[in-house]
Amino acid sequence: MTIAIGNDHAGPEYKSAILEHLKTRGIKITNYGTDTSDSVDYPDFVHPVAKDVDSNTVDFGILICGTANGVAMTANKYKNVRAAVCWTNEITELSRVHNNANIICIPARFTSIPQAIKLVDTFLKTEFEDGGRHERRVNKIPATC
Ligand code: RB5
Repeated sequence: MTIAIGNDHAGPEYKSAILEHLKTRGIKITNYGTDTSDSVDYPDFVHPVAKDVDSNTVDFGILICGTANGVAMTANKYKNVRAAVCWTNEITELSRVHNNANIICIPARFTSIPQAIKLVDTFLKTEFEDGGRHERRVNKIPATC
């Protein structure tokens, strides 16, 4: 499995903990995020992740900012990206099962680090329920005009 990860200044500690955790699982990760708490503009750290997911260069993306809204809004501008704001385990599970989300967006200011790691694990192990109503709905997401 391959992953691209990005974060702004709200997320370096969350990102480090997630990287450390995923390393033990043998997952290949490209880190596009900032590694300090110096203030930055979140879109600059989202575009490289969204581009990798959009072009199928990686299987999944992980994005972290304060609320997760800014990173999700940016990533969802890409045609093949389905970025989901995830703050509970059930919402995370459903973002995969129902929406086939390919980027998890974590709100660092509203989750703990252990919770964020659990959300990532849930996201990566949950399969999309394809072949039915959810697939039909996901296929209707892209803007056509
Ligand atoms: C940064 O202060 C904050 O605005 C950012 O992390 C994020 O929450 C934006 O959506």
